[in-house]
Amino acid sequence: ASLELGPYSHFMQKEIHEQPKALSDTIEAVLDAGFSAELFGPNAAALLPTLEGVKILACGTSYYAGLTAKYWIESIAGVPCDVEIASEYRYRDAWANPKHLIVTISQSGETLDTMEALKYAKSLGHTAALSICNVRESAIPRASELVFYTRAGAEIGVASTKAFTTQLVALFALAVTLGKVRGRVSDEQQAQFLDELRHLPGSVQHALNLEPQIKAWADKFAAKNDALFLGRGLHYPIALEGALKLKEISYIHAEAYPAGELKHGPLALVDSNMPVVVIAPNDSLLEKVKSNMQEVRARGGELFVFADLDSHFSESEGVHVIRTPRHVGVLSPVVHAIPVQLLAYHAALARGTDVDKPRNLAKSVTVE
Ligand code: G6P
Repeated sequence: ASLELGPYSHFMQKEIHEQPKALSDTIEAVLDAGFSAELFGPNAAALLPTLEGVKILACGTSYYAGLTAKYWIESIAGVPCDVEIASEYRYRDAWANPKHLIVTISQSGETLDTMEALKYAKSLGHTAALSICNVRESAIPRASELVFYTRAGAEIGVASTKAFTTQLVALFALAVTLGKVRGRVSDEQQAQFLDELRHLPGSVQHALNLEPQIKAWADKFAAKNDALFLGRGLHYPIALEGALKLKEISYIHAEAYPAGELKHGPLALVDSNMPVVVIAPNDSLLEKVKSNMQEVRARGGELFVFADLDSHFSESEGVHVIRTPRHVGVLSPVVHAIPVQLLAYHAALARGTDVDKPRNLAKSVTVE
């Protein structure tokens, strides 16, 4: 294993650092084809223009990729999108519109609940399903009409990292392609989106370079029992993913909230023992996030803020700031996934847990 690991201590760390490559490999397919339906398979050209909406089904980290996609699909493609945990959907009396595309997201392509949710959707009359998957010819893509394979390469660490960010690229490409076939995305916008994709691996590399600073934060986290993650809009799912990563591998209890919900509950938990991580790049919600942060400070909560240069945050008592790479438009959640992965990784390392094989968890869950 040491040969395979190279300079890294764990597969998770190696996979975190492989993201610029995993992303550029996945992006390459999009750059080659442009945002054309054929990216999703030969049947997609006929199918995509007939759709009236999207329903995403997934588990775990893949579900959080889906939550991010909802923001992109509704704003860029202009169609309704709902996202559901596969194990919930498969057991409820769901309402189906066959003109809604089923999108399953699964790194392994073998997760039982996601597979069963797909079968259930078919039984309700859905005829079109797209699989976003990292493993060729696995069960879920084989059962789907449309497929997009992420090119993350084999992922060994139980906690998903590079699969997640490549899923985001696939979902972004889906949003723009749907927008294009619906006549909502101009040629100029497409060129701009392609350009943003082209620059993404470089921004992700910049985020990886923050590792020493993030490690210093993680050492403080290792002594805590709880943590709260806040984000808004596109960065709320990244807050969820950050909390999940921390739970999975460091066993620190963590939860994520959309920052605007703070006052509806979690604020009661905030004191000096509860570190609060805020994902606060300079987007249209920044001022709102800043006022949420003041609510935390007023209760003695210590803030750990990931913010880009344009957010104009400065360190002060109880407020720590790490500058993330400059805002990369709507792909910003991909860049901000990196620091939360590194935070979890180093917190786990400091606590001495089995990072690649956390207790009680499995890489792919093929039983119920
Ligand atoms: C397990 C893994 C997670 C993964 C989830 C869904 O819980 O530990 O990392 O996100 O399964 O897996 P899938 O292969 O369907 O994406």
